[in-house]
Amino acid sequence: MAKALRVGFIGTGGIAQAHLAAWDKIADAEVVALCDINPQALRSSAEKWGVPAERCFADYRKMLSAVDLDIVDVCTPNAAHAKPTVAALQAGAHVLVEKPAATSAREVEQMIQAGKDAGRLLMVAQVMRFSTEGQLCKHWVSQGLVGEIYWGRAEYLRRRGVPAWGAFIDKAASAGGPCYDIGVHVLDMALHLMDFPEPVTVSAGTYLKIANRPSLMKHDIKRYTVPEDFAVALVRFADGRTLSLGASWALNLREETNQVLVCGTKGAVYLWPPTLVQEENGVLTNSTPQASIFDGADGFYNECNAFAQAVRKGGPSPVPGEQALITQRILDAVYKSGEKGREVRV
Ligand SMILES: NC(=O)c1ccc[n+]([C@@H]2O[C@H](COP(=O)([O-])OP(=O)(O)OC[C@H]3O[C@@H](n4cnc5c(N)ncnc54)[C@H](O)[C@@H]3O)[C@@H](O)[C@H]2O)c1
Repeated sequence: MAKALRVGFIGTGGIAQAHLAAWDKIADAEVVALCDINPQALRSSAEKWGVPAERCFADYRKMLSAVDLDIVDVCTPNAAHAKPTVAALQAGAHVLVEKPAATSAREVEQMIQAGKDAGRLLMVAQVMRFSTEGQLCKHWVSQGLVGEIYWGRAEYLRRRGVPAWGAFIDKAASAGGPCYDIGVHVLDMALHLMDFPEPVTVSAGTYLKIANRPSLMKHDIKRYTVPEDFAVALVRFADGRTLSLGASWALNLREETNQVLVCGTKGAVYLWPPTLVQEENGVLTNSTPQASIFDGADGFYNECNAFAQAVRKGGPSPVPGEQALITQRILDAVYKSGEKGREVRV
């Protein structure tokens, strides 16, 4: 059996625990080093996952120079993705980085370039693609059952769901609000189903109307410094297709509305619950699967395992930086359009 892939972590907070559990189940990989600037987070992860103190670091540069790593898993807050990713690639590791890849297209370009220069893989952890529903929808689209997709809808609209934990609402750490937290999941999923068309313009509205005043939510409103609690956008692509995007942590709605929908010339797919819409022989049908080969998928396991296998085979990256760059360019344009109050070029 080949030598186990040596994995190191930068950031050992909330989501890192899901990644650590996933790596723990992958037979040909071993987590050998951890880094976190918070000594408590570092210690508790080291104890839980059995990483010896001599391979636990407060500074990722020290970890990268002291430990020989095949893979670095970056699970820091959004604004601290780009620098450790570039450093890890330059140190010769392949990098799996949490979503959103970074907080500007420029940073994502630097990450892609660092991977190219070092001949190492960069993958962005878009876990939704690896879920049962995500795989099933992609399967339907790839089988040609939807035909030519000309409109997509990506919505993650919480009514009262501002995170009261972590650094989500802190601009310095997270840069953006619901767009970067939950919007990027459904945006990536819709773009994945549409095969990443080239975006040309975005017309967006960004609003902060509810999360910055007292409400039944538990977050500290004084710490709320991200620009939006709700964003809505229309993205137009070079080939004439369009995508509607909506993301909110707080919005006055009758119910939470989470959906990825793509509509094509032959049919449509919905992500939740996975549904295939088709007209056949004079009948319009909604099909919901009763069982499929994708049932019971563990998204985080599939995500980490897909990366491990890509590293073993020498590529391609299961979620390449080039795709994350398109997603990030759209998100940059959403904020810019919202700020200017008019359509902008991507
Ligand atoms: N895929 C998902 O479903 C999902 C869910 C939650 C969060 N996330 C993403 O994961 C990332 C982290 O979110 P989280 O909820 O785990 O945050 P968190 O605050 O729980 O954990 C982040 C950790 O990174 C550490 N850290 C910060 N800067 C560092 C640095 N320079 N070097 C080393 N460690 C550093 C912090 O001390 C903290 O322990 C975010 O980008 C977020 O968008 C993804």
